[in-house]
Amino acid sequence: MNGEASRCPALAAGDPDLTDPATYRDADYFAQWRRARREHPVVRLDSPRFGAFWSVTAHAAAREVLERPESFTSTRGMRLGGEAGAVSAASGGMLVVSDGPAHARLRSAHAPWFAGRAVARLKDTLRSRLDAKLAELADGTPVDVVARLSRSLPTWLVCGMLGVPEEDWEELAALAAAAFDETETSTAAARRAASAGVFAYFAELLDRRRPDPGDDLVSALLQQSGADRLTDEEILLNCDGLVNGGLGTTRHAVSGAVLAFAAHPREWRRLRADPRSVPTAVEEILRWASPPLHMMRTATEDVRLGDALIRAGERVVLWIPSCNRDESVFAEPDAFRIDRRPNPHLSLGGGPHYCIGASLARLELRTLLEALLTHVARIEFDGTLVRTPSTFLHGLDRLEVTLMPAAAVPGSPGGE
Ligand code: HEM
Repeated sequence: MNGEASRCPALAAGDPDLTDPATYRDADYFAQWRRARREHPVVRLDSPRFGAFWSVTAHAAAREVLERPESFTSTRGMRLGGEAGAVSAASGGMLVVSDGPAHARLRSAHAPWFAGRAVARLKDTLRSRLDAKLAELADGTPVDVVARLSRSLPTWLVCGMLGVPEEDWEELAALAAAAFDETETSTAAARRAASAGVFAYFAELLDRRRPDPGDDLVSALLQQSGADRLTDEEILLNCDGLVNGGLGTTRHAVSGAVLAFAAHPREWRRLRADPRSVPTAVEEILRWASPPLHMMRTATEDVRLGDALIRAGERVVLWIPSCNRDESVFAEPDAFRIDRRPNPHLSLGGGPHYCIGASLARLELRTLLEALLTHVARIEFDGTLVRTPSTFLHGLDRLEVTLMPAAAVPGSPGGE
């Protein structure tokens, strides 16, 4: 492949458009990526929706892009379809669209709240909420896991950490979801209004916390002193970034965990037989479910990636579920194996923007699996599954399963 614009053969053949949200609801996009990895792992595409960009489906090339921020910047947006005005307003002030010293300063202001020890103290509350929830859901009747579990679990964690009062969680989560809604019924104006709603909410929260600080991230950022303290605008931008970074991704990871075990009952039996596999199972869930669908960077200079010559100013899109099933890195990549090791998936990114919430995401999945092992003997798939029509996040809008209670199965943990 050379630097000339070339149309992806898979797209030209009438295969699904990777930039159409509907593709991720209905089509076999994994087959298309498999072919792309083999035939053109780095290729320039021309999308009817988003214009020209370089499409990366291979693990090694994607990792290289993530680890070279001086050649592939985040400051011009990290996803296709971001509004130019919103990106330039956030660039340099919000973690995910900053680079270099500006990014390092923002990252160190947030870091203490995401360190292992700070995150670990959330575990007990999380576990007791999960125990209560699963005691209710694991009753041997069908349940939509997305509506009843996956939506609430991330909200407890992320809104709790930010100090959002519990009575506001649902409203805030709904606004954050609407700001990224790519379904046919949503409009750009509706997305803008929802995003403005999230900012307005946090502006008010800052005003409340300033005179009356709590034990939360927003209060801590407001109370910082010294030359590096964040401005109110930076705090607002990063509240938005944390809600956007933390809610949808973890929601899809939770549904992905339940789907993985519903679809692979043998792996569930293995996990029950040996709960010490929980940490490797968490990594495999992240790889297999791949909650981020794509990440984007913009070349700052002419740069070679594999056989491709990417010109300064051109956008590069990394398809994460494809990289996570790259057969040159993962043996039997489509199989779900709770003891896969090593597991260098890219679901939490790589390089300087590696997910700041990674410990939180892992704690959430670990605690979920531990609670499922206590309450659930078997997870049965009832045949209803609706995928999310999104080009940004990869997951489910609906997943009906039956959680067979552990207590009903003699000899199971928590059973009789
Ligand atoms: C399973 C759950 C999660 C997944 C799959 C995930 C995935 C990612 C990925 C792939 C990136 C890199 C983005 C890029 O390089 O452009 C990222 C960054 C980020 N994530 Fe997460 N994330 C998860 C959970 C969370 C949580 C719980 C939070 C916060 C409460 C969070 C906050 C962020 C932030 C603020 C960034 C930007 C970091 C930076 O630019 O330095 N994430 N996440």
